Amino acid sequence: MSAIKILVIPGSIRTGSLNARLAAVAAKAFALAGADVTRISLADYSLPLYDADLEAQSGVPKAAVELKRQLGAHHGVLMVTPEYNASVPPLVKNAVDWVSRVRERGVPPLEVFHDRAYAMAAASDGPLGGTGALMALRQILTLGCGATVIPRQLALSFAGQAFDDDDRLKLPRDAEALQALVWQLIDVAQAMM
Ligand SMILES: Cc1cc2nc3c(=O)[nH]c(=O)nc-3n(C[C@H](O)[C@H](O)[C@H](O)COP(=O)(O)O)c2cc1C
Repeated sequence: MSAIKILVIPGSIRTGSLNARLAAVAAKAFALAGADVTRISLADYSLPLYDADLEAQSGVPKAAVELKRQLGAHHGVLMVTPEYNASVPPLVKNAVDWVSRVRERGVPPLEVFHDRAYAMAAASDGPLGGTGALMALRQILTLGCGATVIPRQLALSFAGQAFDDDDRLKLPRDAEALQALVWQLIDVAQAMM
């Protein structure tokens, strides 16, 4: 059987992003678990703020169609999101909103969310590690898009101090939570193949 394909999406394009750093650590963990991993940057999928008038005039931007195809080319997806005011940042919500608007001939709406497994992680310098963003993203993906989101998740607290010089997670608790997430996403994604 060919390797399971996992897509890792950091929800921040900021230089020095803690979530991009966590996404890189997670991508390594998926690769070590035998997955074929793709890590993208949302900077490569430049999207205007969703506007229904813009969609009516110009349709869905090409970048949204391409992002949807990236999702569709993988069996499992990990989204690593920052927390902004106890929710997800506009970069993440806007990307999900645009992808949810893509319609392709013969493909039911939102199918790309329905037929693969999703997982979430967050990194924040605060004590709760972006738990509010994870709650919001779980709602967006499950209630909004009908996605299967695995129960395991990682909220990396005090993220500024969480990585060692080799970009590994310092605390066994964090490393174990990431490993459990990796295995569960692979298991659930395999079951959905
Ligand atoms: C508008 C805004 C709101 C924020 N709200 C929260 C918050 O509610 N909880 C939290 O832990 N951090 C909050 N932060 C801090 C971010 O989580 C922090 O800047 C984080 O490093 C951003 O992720 P990144 O490093 O991947 O870019 C907020 C930051 C901004 C800019």
